[in-house]
Amino acid sequence: MRTKITVIGAGNVGGTTAHRLAEKELGEEIVLLDAYAGIARGKALDMVEAGPVCGYSTKVLGTDSFEDVKDSYITIITAGFPRRPGMTREELLLTNAEVVKKIVVEVVRVAPETIIIMVTNPLDAMAYLACRVSGFPRERVIGMAGVLDSARLRTFVAMELGISAENVQAMVLGSHGETMVAIPSLTTVAGVPVSELIPKERLDAVIERTRKGGQEILELLKTGSTFYAPSAAIAKMVEAILKDKKEILPCTAFCQGEYGIRDIFIGVPVKLGRRGMEGITSLPLTPEELKALQKSAAAIRPQCEEIERFLKGQ
Ligand code: 2OP
Repeated sequence: MRTKITVIGAGNVGGTTAHRLAEKELGEEIVLLDAYAGIARGKALDMVEAGPVCGYSTKVLGTDSFEDVKDSYITIITAGFPRRPGMTREELLLTNAEVVKKIVVEVVRVAPETIIIMVTNPLDAMAYLACRVSGFPRERVIGMAGVLDSARLRTFVAMELGISAENVQAMVLGSHGETMVAIPSLTTVAGVPVSELIPKERLDAVIERTRKGGQEILELLKTGSTFYAPSAAIAKMVEAILKDKKEILPCTAFCQGEYGIRDIFIGVPVKLGRRGMEGITSLPLTPEELKALQKSAAAIRPQCEEIERFLKGQ
């Protein structure tokens, strides 16, 4: 059976994601779905026409029909409203809950075995909603946030030191919001702990810029959302799953006691393979890092409680 990957939402994030997947030939068939069929079909055709030049022959189908999502191996949900400058991601919760719930119901109908990668904000709450509405096991609902936030930390550390970001390894865990947790003890530059290379006050500034990374770009763009780095992060996750890489990446997953956290979705080190979230990896965090992660979990919990009220009110 052809490996089909669906991207729901053909806006900047969804469109760029579909393009990255097509160009990397991740999936034999990419389905780009949007309520506005013309947007999805136009972008899909444009990507296919780039194939002869860029050297890929991935089939990309633009559609507004969930029937085309049938039997998708991975379904990436990017649809929803982006925040405006000055807004927090959390302010989108009820608006995007309405959008995401309808989508997940349809996805379950046509692709009951799919792996969901959630992207819509507020990410932690939307991943929780997708898991509750789909009834999928936690292995098949994964949020994209940590790879993006870690990419920002890697970039800013590299800028600080004047080196390639490819030499920087970093792990940002916790919420995809104000309480996200950079893990300095696991941040290295060519294997050297970052704390040996950057003074604490500068490292704190770099971490704060990471925390505000999305907002910084939104304030420059004025409208719309970030999409180059988010789509790259999504493609990284898709590749780890499709190629069964068993790769440990920071992803938003449903914790059931790991790191002392239970019954919420939060960014943790996840082993990604063909079955999706194949495990949550226990890494040696410092007591301060673990405390910050648990504090982040406490900040997410009210959003999950609001999702429960939303579902009861439906
Ligand atoms: C970001 O941080 C859109 O939440 C995403 O850029």
